Amino acid sequence: SAEINQALLPLEWLLGVWESDEPGEGSFSSIPPFRYNETLHFSHVGQPVINFMFNASHAENKKPMHRECGFIRMQPGTNRVAFIIAQNSGLVEVEEGELSGQCLTLSTLALARTSFAKEPHVDQISRVFQMRPDGKLEQTVSMAMKGGPMMQHLHITYCRSTD
Ligand code: HEM
Repeated sequence: SAEINQALLPLEWLLGVWESDEPGEGSFSSIPPFRYNETLHFSHVGQPVINFMFNASHAENKKPMHRECGFIRMQPGTNRVAFIIAQNSGLVEVEEGELSGQCLTLSTLALARTSFAKEPHVDQISRVFQMRPDGKLEQTVSMAMKGGPMMQHLHITYCRSTD
């Protein structure tokens, strides 16, 4: 496998496969709470770019649910991070933010969707990826609909996968 690009060293801790240790919790004021599992893949091919895939499934019946994939870049010489994301719901997104230690804080810079994407339409997304002292990765996602308040949609923790 390719040697890691120097530009990615600050994000090396993210690389690999992560699986939810216990089901994540989904919520929003307009929907019933739900539980889900999710596997995250972060890889690279030697470019200054991380390739990622996030695949969520129903906690009980295991059916595939939300999926996202994309790329992560860092602005050279800074702690600025960009996620370039495509979601199976018909949304594409650029999120930007900062890396501070092993904590990534991101929010929507640009968002577009298919003309026939399901309503209501999300307008703003923010998320935090945090590596915890116990070696688990935590993701919290909040979102807002047009004109609405930011509210939490997802919270989940992952363990490094052994296979
Ligand atoms: C509902 C956005 C990730 C599961 C929704 C809704 C939006 C949304 C806009 C509609 C809320 C409403 O009806 O008022 C997003 C965005 C995500 C994301 C932007 C990623 C950044 C996920 C993930 C799961 C998930 C990872 C895990 C399975 C659900 C479920 C509902 C929902 C079960 C309620 C039923 C439905 O509308 O399909 N989401 N979501 N979402 N989301 Fe997410």
